[in-house]
Amino acid sequence: MSIKSIITGTGSYLPEKILTNADLEKMVDTTDEWIVQRSGIQQRHIASPDQTTGDMAINAGRMAVQSAGIDPSHIDGVIVATTTPDNTFPSVAVKVQAALGIPPGLAFDIQAVCTGFVYALSVADNFIKAGQAKRILVIGAEKMSSIVNWQDRTTCVLFADGAGAVILESHDEPTPGVAGRGIHSTHLYANGHHRDILMTSGGPSSTGKAGHILMEGKEVFKYAVNYMADIVDETLAYHGITSADIDWLVPHQANIRIIESTAKKLDMPMERVIVTIDHHGNTSAASIPLALDEGVRAGKIKRGDLLLFEALGGGLTWGSALLRF
Ligand code: UT7
Repeated sequence: MSIKSIITGTGSYLPEKILTNADLEKMVDTTDEWIVQRSGIQQRHIASPDQTTGDMAINAGRMAVQSAGIDPSHIDGVIVATTTPDNTFPSVAVKVQAALGIPPGLAFDIQAVCTGFVYALSVADNFIKAGQAKRILVIGAEKMSSIVNWQDRTTCVLFADGAGAVILESHDEPTPGVAGRGIHSTHLYANGHHRDILMTSGGPSSTGKAGHILMEGKEVFKYAVNYMADIVDETLAYHGITSADIDWLVPHQANIRIIESTAKKLDMPMERVIVTIDHHGNTSAASIPLALDEGVRAGKIKRGDLLLFEALGGGLTWGSALLRF
């Protein structure tokens, strides 16, 4: 027997408004063909001006609680990964806690940009393994549209809004190794030397404003392809397994070409990769839990499947998680 953290519920939320590539053609000097060819994105969801990251996180969180079939009073922690919080403080997590009727317990936000959900999952997993929490609501939620420069065609066609959530629960797993359920390992990295190739132009203690996304796309692309290849190798080697053991790759959705490159490196057919980039765009920390929930609700991802999550984002940060669902 060993204590494992298992995902017992998933949820997600996407704002009603859909922004298509045709809409963007009217806003900046771009084409549907360029966006689809270079990124794989066809449309994305954009929050309304009065809708916050917290609002989306609450909706996704509520759905995850329902899907786990638990009462909010049994949750003892909330961790939200976000780069676009409602306020500089307090955290989005405490807003979710209050809105869902979750009793006092740990609640805080994590900032690791597009790798945020993998970081949050890892932190929650460690709280559970240490015996400091039994049930944690882990959310990735972003209103990236609020930090996009809508005149900058190099970034505004990529980013989008949404939220995804999971309930992570302590579980006494009798089966040893990766055959058992739960999170088997997480692998987290950051390299601050690359912090200025993907950043915002401001922040509370510098400009006093959130700022806009600045990205050297080609540079980030290069690191994404290499770091993702390395981290999936590292994760498989850590467990002595091969990609044939993985049922589903659930990657961060930044660019279809990065996803295809990782799948190729793993020698995994695209049929075993959850792809949402075409209709979600890049929702940063929300992209993996959104893809997970979509995969589960579509009946693709089933209980007992071995899943590999991987992501890269500003920092640069990157990471992976291997878990049996
Ligand atoms: O989630 C966080 C991590 N983020 C990522 O992983 C993103 C990584 N980067 C990328 O996904 C890709 O680099 C992009 C999709 C951002 C860009 O694709 P690219 O193939 O690297 O294009 P590029 O930046 O080299 O731009 C090629 C050309 C340029 O024109 P010139 O200099 O060749 O004349 C750009 O000015 O495309 C131009 N361009 C556009 N044209 C039409 C840039 N943006 C657009 C646009 N529409 N929206």
